[in-house]
Amino acid sequence: GFSWKLPDHPKLPKGKTIAVIVLDGWGEANPNEYNCIHNAETPTMDSLKKGAPEHWRLVRAHGKAVGLPTEDDMGNSEVGHNALGAGRIFAQGAKLVDLALESGKIFEGDGFNYIKESFETGTLHLIGLLSDGGVHSRLDQVQLLLKGVSERGVKRIRLHVLTDGRDVLDGSSVAFVETLENDLAKLREKGIDARIASGGGRMNVTMDRYENDWSVVKRGWDAQVLGEAPFKFTSALEAVKTLRAAPKANDQYLPPFVIVDESGKSVGPIVDGDAVVTFNFRADRMTMLAKALEYEKFDNFDRVRVPKIRYAGMLEYDGELKLPRHYLVSPPEIDRTSGEYLVHNGVRTFACSETVKFGHVTFFWNGNRSGYFNADLEQYVEIPSDSGITFNEQPKMKAVEIAEKAKEAILSGKFDQIRVNLPNGDMVGHTGDIEATIVACKAADEAVKIILDAIQQVGGIYVVTADHGNAEDMVKRDKAGKPLLKDGKVQILTSHTLEPVPIAIGGPGLAPGVRFRNDVPTGGLANVAATVMNLHGFEAPSDYETTLIEVVDK
Ligand code: 3PG
Ligand code: CO
Repeated sequence: GFSWKLPDHPKLPKGKTIAVIVLDGWGEANPNEYNCIHNAETPTMDSLKKGAPEHWRLVRAHGKAVGLPTEDDMGNSEVGHNALGAGRIFAQGAKLVDLALESGKIFEGDGFNYIKESFETGTLHLIGLLSDGGVHSRLDQVQLLLKGVSERGVKRIRLHVLTDGRDVLDGSSVAFVETLENDLAKLREKGIDARIASGGGRMNVTMDRYENDWSVVKRGWDAQVLGEAPFKFTSALEAVKTLRAAPKANDQYLPPFVIVDESGKSVGPIVDGDAVVTFNFRADRMTMLAKALEYEKFDNFDRVRVPKIRYAGMLEYDGELKLPRHYLVSPPEIDRTSGEYLVHNGVRTFACSETVKFGHVTFFWNGNRSGYFNADLEQYVEIPSDSGITFNEQPKMKAVEIAEKAKEAILSGKFDQIRVNLPNGDMVGHTGDIEATIVACKAADEAVKIILDAIQQVGGIYVVTADHGNAEDMVKRDKAGKPLLKDGKVQILTSHTLEPVPIAIGGPGLAPGVRFRNDVPTGGLANVAATVMNLHGFEAPSDYETTLIEVVDK
């Protein structure tokens, strides 16, 4: 029968202190002026790369290696940390929604039947990120959803759109809104009253995460539910065009707006009897809104009016909280993660990051599950992030604080695994500010050094890797790799990349014969879990992606 007990590794000892460091948004790319990692002073990461070749390699962090639909899909933190923690590749939300739409099953499930009850008499509201980034949502999925509901009796549709500029180029919001407006015009020709009702930039409206700043969700609530916002327009296209014309305007941070009729009344507040679908498949930035929509007891902001609605998420966002109760597509069943195995085998774990990435090394790492497996053996520490700023203003973020906490945990002797996420390369990379991203990469490197020094002191082992690329390439390129120009200027890339990421192992506790195998050339993030289990002195479960290391006699 099934057992959580892991077999002993035949050659590797138990009881070593292991630091697992995830540099967020830290890929490997050619050195050039847009490679902020290359252009930053990163002596620690450089020394790992220039060190023993058998202790440094690259792993895949995008596309099918992390369960995304195609090789054109860049990596992201959700799928990256899922793969790192689970040790296997699961078809991820993006792919599962594609399949459910393709087969039509999405329109047959409990979630859809539940919201459909409101189609006759109420309005269907769709809320989510409007782009083709494929990280949190995809426009083509929204289009298929619109088609599906329009064939199944919906009478009135209102969209509440969040502009992107973070997983796609800044400025692309206008074209996405235009596309959607054209689709809605066609629905209106068919007699369906379909309109965009509100909007705003994703970082300013609705899509906060890990409870960093509830005012973001409140701004969305006011616009989407109450129909109130500081900016009013009669069309969404006019809204984004006008708001983007302001100095320093940016798709990620557009202010909230509502669409109003001739009398100035919002065209689509959410009211009793309506149905709501949040169409993001990725959880982290929808969980807070899901709570606001669903929880009876809620005190994170004054909701003013709580409409009685039928609400479904595109996916279930939190399997532990069963949030939301209704959803259109079942999430990947990420079970038996390495974290769960390790607690069952007595490994004591410490995990830490700052708020904006805290859930990455806990929730995502543990297969989209919040909470501890065993509170006696685990401690998760969240360092509060600065809120209300864009991270190019504080590119060092809390890297040193995270590293100091990790160091303390390492030196305490109370933990076997100390796991951190260092957010800088990613969070600052997303701002598109090249100078700041260079500062960010330097800060992350300094944090790595603090942790490696502590590992040195206790005779431990380190595993340094990343979840996906970002800071190593900050320019949009054509197929041949040349920077793309627009109006004579290069287009800055705020999103992640398709690049592989480094993984380095070492430290005084690493057994002398341990080295990266050379027979796993296509290894990806999912191979890391088995590797780490080995370093803890265990064999990985047989269905895990294979380990990256071997032990040769020395
Ligand atoms: C975000 O949510 O910030 C971006 O869409 C993706 O970034 P992450 O995958 O690094 O969190
Ligand atoms: Co990112």
